[in-house]
Amino acid sequence: MMNDKKVLFSGMQATGTLTLGNYLGALKNWVTLSDEYECFYCVVDLHSITIRQDPAELRKRARNLLTLYIAAGLDPTKNCLYYQSHVSGHAELSWILNCFTYMGELNRMTQFKDKSQKHADNINAGLFTYPVLMAADILLFQSDVVPVGIDQMQHLEITRDIAQRFNNIYGDVFTIPEPYIGKTGAKIMSLQDPTKKMSKSDENPNSSIYLMDDPDAIVRKFKRAVTDSGKEILYTDDKPGIKNLLDIYCTITQKTVEEAVKEFDGKGYGEFKLAVGEVVADHLRPVQERFGQLSKDKAFIDGIIKDNAEKANYFATKTLRKVQRKVGFPDRIR
Ligand code: TYM
Repeated sequence: MMNDKKVLFSGMQATGTLTLGNYLGALKNWVTLSDEYECFYCVVDLHSITIRQDPAELRKRARNLLTLYIAAGLDPTKNCLYYQSHVSGHAELSWILNCFTYMGELNRMTQFKDKSQKHADNINAGLFTYPVLMAADILLFQSDVVPVGIDQMQHLEITRDIAQRFNNIYGDVFTIPEPYIGKTGAKIMSLQDPTKKMSKSDENPNSSIYLMDDPDAIVRKFKRAVTDSGKEILYTDDKPGIKNLLDIYCTITQKTVEEAVKEFDGKGYGEFKLAVGEVVADHLRPVQERFGQLSKDKAFIDGIIKDNAEKANYFATKTLRKVQRKVGFPDRIR
């Protein structure tokens, strides 16, 4: 890389509206880590078309997501924020890595099993090889660290296996990436069913906090959050609803679970839920305001998209050429 900093890569899909899960499991950590690493934050639009998308809607969501990265606190002049589809190296490396990935490995991926159940009418090959494209994303930038939520761990493991396998054959080509999982917030659960992950695709809007929900909606959804019939505010597995709310509260306020449990000692569920709703609403308000302002500045966002695509292409091409050479493709004549 251009300096001594280690490299960080991560990405999000522009499918649906981002939830508090995406924010606390990933985006918030991206901002925290962004000074320490050389960062590439991608809007993974190639991954999005594994499920049918409305083209105009996908384009709009992709732009909103990139804008949201900036609104959440990522400085676009220091961090490389770009669209996956603007860097053809992702798809090219993905093809090569497909030839180093086994069907058996992909068959074990739980996300593939879940998604093919949900979209039984469209079990396409892209859905199956999705993790290979993700491995290509990460390996293309020689990434050292990949901040994600727990649900992406299996994809990180297969990425490491593919990289190791390739290195064993061709020498030290790829950096082996490490996942970065936050101490809290790495698996935010649905507010209506705390045994299920909070997800963009949940049909019940009360299950998820969307990053663009207004403060009243946020507080209302927390007030309605499913808890249990008990009274005490404790961080235990037999109180998954309360545990989830404590996780959210602690990730936002950066308090420890012990501190939070002490703070709410003797208080009722109602008061607790209101307090969680308020800290979330207060935390998201400035992000929403910045998003509103940035969205109006077309020229600024366009400039970021153009400059960062060039930067990402430059680094991606370096790795890609090396890999192409290793596997035996002919040199380019200049
Ligand atoms: P995606 O778009 O589903 O989610 C983006 C990020 O949000 C995290 N996340 C959560 N964290 C905590 N609690 C939740 N309820 C929750 N829901 C989602 C995810 O773990 C993820 O970090 N395949 C990836 C995108 C991707 C990627 C990559 C990520 C493509 N290439 C390379 C890292 C590196 C995905 O669909 O994430």
